[in-house]
Amino acid sequence: MKQLHIETYGCQMNVADSEVVAAILKKDGFEYTKNIDNADVILLNTCSIREHAENKIIQRLNELKKLRASKPQLLIGVIGCMAERLQERLFEKKDLVDIVAGPDSYRTLPQLIEKAQVERQAINAELSLTETYAEIYPYRYDDNGISAFVSIMRGCNNFCSYCIVPYTRGRERSRDSQSIVDEVKQLYADGYKEVTLLGQNVNSYKFENDGEMVSFPQLLEQVAIAVPQMRIRFTTSHPKDLSDDLLYVMAKYDNLAKWIHLPVQSGSSTVLQRMNRRYTREWYLDRVAAIRRILPEASITTDIMCGFSDETEAEQEETLSLMREVEYDAAFMFKYSEREGTVASKRMPDNVPDDVKVRRLNEIIAVQNELSRKKNAEDVGKTFEVLIDGVSKKDEGEWKGRSSQNKTVVFPAQNVKLGDFVKVKIVSSSSATLRGEVVEN
Ligand code: SAH
Ligand code: SF4
Ligand code: F3S
Repeated sequence: MKQLHIETYGCQMNVADSEVVAAILKKDGFEYTKNIDNADVILLNTCSIREHAENKIIQRLNELKKLRASKPQLLIGVIGCMAERLQERLFEKKDLVDIVAGPDSYRTLPQLIEKAQVERQAINAELSLTETYAEIYPYRYDDNGISAFVSIMRGCNNFCSYCIVPYTRGRERSRDSQSIVDEVKQLYADGYKEVTLLGQNVNSYKFENDGEMVSFPQLLEQVAIAVPQMRIRFTTSHPKDLSDDLLYVMAKYDNLAKWIHLPVQSGSSTVLQRMNRRYTREWYLDRVAAIRRILPEASITTDIMCGFSDETEAEQEETLSLMREVEYDAAFMFKYSEREGTVASKRMPDNVPDDVKVRRLNEIIAVQNELSRKKNAEDVGKTFEVLIDGVSKKDEGEWKGRSSQNKTVVFPAQNVKLGDFVKVKIVSSSSATLRGEVVEN
């Protein structure tokens, strides 16, 4: 049997897509191998979100040259966002890439591989208005059998001025709600305990089923009811579309995780306007107030970016003050990286010097560390339901898992196993982890 190896970079949507690709190629007679040296085809599922992400891929392709030289039949493919962005340009460097496939062309991978075997070059970077891979049951070759991703929509129509995603992933489209419910039920039957519904902006999910529109809150409710024993998460929520309806659905069902990832990007309304985020600082804080009111036990996490075009010190201060006001449990923090083709790259100069970006990023990281430490300390004495997903890296005698709030909890325990839900009382904390003891299982 032909052997396939996939390396996945970028966001969770790429993880889910790699599993779709593995399913498509399995049907075509490929066996997945963890061992790259055995592979006949190696696919890199790539990300273009920041320049650094793309540099990593180029570096990886250069590393793979040696393997390629030692194995003339080996095919190397670049798939995903960077494939879509660079297309034929990926063939320009000699002997690095044989196959290029964009995110909507994965069904044609068997043909692309066949063509590349003969002609040494094959490409399909066509985007689609309708492709959702709805009926393909992903081959989850590399997860822990406990927690799975389920893609509920593709693409993005928001065109935040800095962002490459609308260009690499194309127009937004929602997947058939029934196929989502069916897949989640199948995951439960297969022994999974947790599912994360994925989309760039899940709050704008809408699918017409038998003449009736299914919104995201409705979909979430259908899923919660379909698999009451499973824990359900979702990401990402765009603040402009986060409704009270959604929060009420989350409050109603115990199996809906009490965690909201709500990327803010900046605490300054003027920066948000330049970013085309379509909300203000005040709107965002109102959404946070709604979460605190309707879901008091929820954790809130975010993405923050500093150093966007024309960002002043006063605007940076507004980001720091918003962080302190919201008190995020955790955050992903980035320096702005200009992406060719975006509105910002055409009309807004990338004029914050790198040393200033680095300093601002460090200020943001310092504030977040302080906040994470504080928020985690507030959890001491409370009891959380933890889904066990592994053994602690630091101490092999201890289990680790995640709370409904998506926090990592470490604890010693007997008579439990991977995939168990256990009640853990928190006894101590740091900025990264909670430590506790089992009170009931
Ligand atoms: N759809 C999600 C974000 C997906 S990208 C949302 O709208 O929230 C994940 C994060 O990468 C973004 O939230 C943003 O913080 C960051 N990001 C996106 N484009 C970037 C760029 N050009 N430079 C630096 N960070 C960027
Ligand atoms: Fe990018 Fe904005 Fe779409 Fe998120 S919502 S993927 S940041 S364009
Ligand atoms: Fe990267 Fe594409 Fe995801 S650009 S962040 S892999 S949608």
